[in-house]
Amino acid sequence: GTAALSAVIDLDLPGPVISRHLYGHFAEHLGRCIYGGFWVGEDSSVPNEGGIRRDVVEALRKLSIPNLRWPGGCFADEYHWTDGIGPRDERPRMVNTHWGDVEENNHFGTHEFMALCELLGTEPYVSSNVGSGSVHETSEWVEYLTRDGDSPMARLRRENGRDEPWKVRFWGVGNEPWGCGGNLRVEQFAPLARQHATYARNHGDNQLYRIAAGAADDDYHWTATLMREITSRLGDPAPRELYQAVSFHYYTFGGVWSEKGSATRFTRDEYWTTMSRALRVRRYIAGHAAVMDAYDPTKKIGLALDEWGTWWDVEPGTNPGFLYQQNAMRDALVAAVHFDAFHDHADRLRLANIAQTVNVLQAMVLTDEDRLVLTPTFHVFAMNRGHHDAQALAVRPRGEQAVREVDGSDIPTVSASASVKDGRATVSVTNLDPDAPARVELDLRGRAVTSVTGQVLASDDVADHNTFDAPTAVEPRDFHAFETSGASLTLTVPPGAFVVLDVQLA
Ligand code: AHR
Repeated sequence: GTAALSAVIDLDLPGPVISRHLYGHFAEHLGRCIYGGFWVGEDSSVPNEGGIRRDVVEALRKLSIPNLRWPGGCFADEYHWTDGIGPRDERPRMVNTHWGDVEENNHFGTHEFMALCELLGTEPYVSSNVGSGSVHETSEWVEYLTRDGDSPMARLRRENGRDEPWKVRFWGVGNEPWGCGGNLRVEQFAPLARQHATYARNHGDNQLYRIAAGAADDDYHWTATLMREITSRLGDPAPRELYQAVSFHYYTFGGVWSEKGSATRFTRDEYWTTMSRALRVRRYIAGHAAVMDAYDPTKKIGLALDEWGTWWDVEPGTNPGFLYQQNAMRDALVAAVHFDAFHDHADRLRLANIAQTVNVLQAMVLTDEDRLVLTPTFHVFAMNRGHHDAQALAVRPRGEQAVREVDGSDIPTVSASASVKDGRATVSVTNLDPDAPARVELDLRGRAVTSVTGQVLASDDVADHNTFDAPTAVEPRDFHAFETSGASLTLTVPPGAFVVLDVQLA
């Protein structure tokens, strides 16, 4: 049949580096993400390393997680970091008003988070409190974490058992200030963002990468105002650079906010609506990037999509405030098309964090007591590792691409992206059509190809998912449905499936 996508990839024209930080993660004090998910405590019968679950760490290490954002989310703007240090049984308790109205015992705090990052081999991304916190708290938290030598906070850290300062690069200022982070207008938040960033100091050689909390979805007014306020010089001939990035959040869900639909039971129409909404991320990244170009034409300031992913109704019988949802093949495809969009905008998009790693929203792993299951989304992250810090390659469609009309507009039924690093190209291809295979023709130009291997994530139905009783229902397999002839590579991608090719170059 005719190809759903015929495209040219110039292997000898590498573009911008795809930061590995586009594959970042997010762990909030929400539901069973931290408690029960990452943290079980030292006395637990679940095997742990100083209270941190061994099985979760072992699974996530396979993803080479580049950074982990913590402690929220909405929780970050209620969190007072000094509650989470010192002897655990003496730590004050609080109410987690956003998420289930449950009691938070603060057993997982700064030291536990930094220990988790060390076990995962990942960089911390600390999100600081603007909504209900103070500039003073922010300033002292940075000092506590990163200052060497003798200072009040460095001394306090040592009293709590940590001599050396930690390295912390990613520093978030606020979270969704337009909503749970204070219900502020951007005109109110921007001056606060300037003030907080001023006192989030670089100590010694620890250089912070400050990220200002940003817009929802396509709120370009937010980004424009923030950019103007953080880049304007206010008459100062050489101001310190306040921010290295601004963020935005975008979630994919099916229905309306109050009824987002089930993670595993959905109609074909609901499936297609989800896919068309997932694909909007491309437009939104481009939109924020265009606004940023006006204020920062040399692209010094990065864009950070520090919350993204699917958001469904919670699994029946679970706490509505815990945001526990299953994760189907459909979720994997949503992740795959996000990554294609990320790779294509690597010149501006420097960081992204899926929400959230364990037991919350679009998770990598689900846990039940001492059991753990990998989700289809986990496998997409694993299969796409070849793109980490590789140089983006444009995938240029030649001729017409197959499309489908969804809610009044056409969406492509095949999504693809590519990159090159160390003499090999990684090509990711997603067939969004859940009912028909897709033939894809790629013309790989500019460098000779010596060998191609592939992996495919596919299942009988896009609603298929892994459970504790059937943990490997959706798993990657070797992919052989391709042919090469000279520079041309033709593949047949199964219905609703994700393929990654590893192309060895001469
Ligand atoms: O990820 C769950 C919540 O979604 C976060 O706490 C908040 O930032 C967003 O609204």
